[in-house]
Amino acid sequence: MQATWLDTGDTIGSDTLATHGVLHKEMATDEASYQPSLDELKAERGYIVQDVIALTPDTPNLEAICQKFDGEHAHSEDEVRFVLGGEGIFDIRSNDDRWMRVTVQQGDLIVVPKDRHHRFELTAERSIRCVRLFKDPAGWVPNYR
Ligand code: LAC
Ligand code: NI
Repeated sequence: MQATWLDTGDTIGSDTLATHGVLHKEMATDEASYQPSLDELKAERGYIVQDVIALTPDTPNLEAICQKFDGEHAHSEDEVRFVLGGEGIFDIRSNDDRWMRVTVQQGDLIVVPKDRHHRFELTAERSIRCVRLFKDPAGWVPNYR
């Protein structure tokens, strides 16, 4: 994970992300290592559904899919992603509405709290594979700002 304030370029650590309501931690990407932690998170926070989302340069309509998430939006539930491979860039609003740019890579777990505005894009490699946790798959809707 690499995180910086977009306005100043200053580095941000996991501790600062936490003060802005964003959980970040690193875990090994073999299932035996991460699944118990994900199960704990599900029990604690009420996430029910677990799936895997994969985007690659070969994904049909990749650019259309990416366009859905590169505009600033929020969700009515937490956005939970554990990166199994590839990388991506989350820009997440701080408590005081500044942008925090968080580049996630293999082994990064990130939780963007519900109702928090953010946007997402792939890096130049255009590839990411993530475990997602959520409460209601039917409710996975971006609300644009
Ligand atoms: C989402 C991300 C990518 O809403 O922001 O799935
Ligand atoms: Ni989102």
